[in-house]
Amino acid sequence: KSFRVAVVGATGAVGNLMIQVLEERSFPVGELKLLASARSIGKSLPYKGRMLPVEELTEKSFRGVQLALFSAGSGVSRKFAPIAAEAGCVVVDNSSAFRMDPRIPLVVPEVNAHALGDHPTIIANPNCSTIQMVVALKPIQDAVGIRRIVVTTFQAVSGTGKRAIEELRRQVADLSEGREVTREVYPHQIAFNCFPHIGAFLDNGFTEEEMKMVNETRKIFEDPEIQVCATTVRVPVYFGHSESVNIETRAPISAERVREILSGAPGVIVVDDPGQHRYPVPLQAAGTDDTLVGRIRMDPSVENGLAMWVVADNIRKGAASNAVQIAEILAARNLI
Ligand code: A2P
Repeated sequence: KSFRVAVVGATGAVGNLMIQVLEERSFPVGELKLLASARSIGKSLPYKGRMLPVEELTEKSFRGVQLALFSAGSGVSRKFAPIAAEAGCVVVDNSSAFRMDPRIPLVVPEVNAHALGDHPTIIANPNCSTIQMVVALKPIQDAVGIRRIVVTTFQAVSGTGKRAIEELRRQVADLSEGREVTREVYPHQIAFNCFPHIGAFLDNGFTEEEMKMVNETRKIFEDPEIQVCATTVRVPVYFGHSESVNIETRAPISAERVREILSGAPGVIVVDDPGQHRYPVPLQAAGTDDTLVGRIRMDPSVENGLAMWVVADNIRKGAASNAVQIAEILAARNLI
């Protein structure tokens, strides 16, 4: 069995990768429709050795399409995901538009595939920073429970999209050639800099990105009690988010036992031999679908405290690959 699949936002950083991941993972695509804005008419993108034309997204785009992967921003999703669903298409949406809607499953396959239920129409792909954190923490949550998480992220520019990748490249080139630095995407120079500002600031002093980590973690773990305090930081890295994750578990567990559990956990690779300079780094995670965990150690400053370092490719596991993995489950369970 194969499916007629659409990628919405096909020309973007994540959309483009969705096409590549569909091919890599041999998802049973019968026909592939590439959709973007009118600006992209005339462009074409490679899939399985052929160039496919990019079409303009319209209300009629989803006729006969069975599965649509959306990554064109919340506004596009809010408008077109319901239109696609109405046309009988199952939508996996990478934007934040529907994530906190109680009727919409928010899914990380390794963590809560059961949340897909029997008749999903729109499924939300969580925020990139949330995905890698819950993949790493789920086995610990299952083993001993987690009371509180304090997380600081070090997030790559690819999460902002193509223009941000270009901005970092341009600034690095400008600086090395002694030209004045210009910026368009970020509020500060990103080359050789970092800033604790991802998404808009809210009344509570946190940013949108930080609150996504709080609310999405609670929804995915189905645990409204779990306490999360996040600080999200943009760093001059192209691909791969890193996270310093500090947790308080409900029951005691040793660092050794955590290493053992995580070694057998789906989607996780333990990279934890600091004496040999082995700990996760973004350049190692980039291009893979694994969540790398290392620096696992007891935090003696609090009862049942643990600290660790978690790294994953934010546009693969954090976005495109997670979406395709959801699609694989939909196909396997006859939900498309
Ligand atoms: P386009 O290239 O035609 O502007 P990124 O997150 O890397 O910036 O990519 C955003 C993606 O979303 C691009 O593929 C972009 O298409 C697409 N997009 C943005 N706005 C719209 C829109 N109004 N309709 C369709 N696609 C859109």
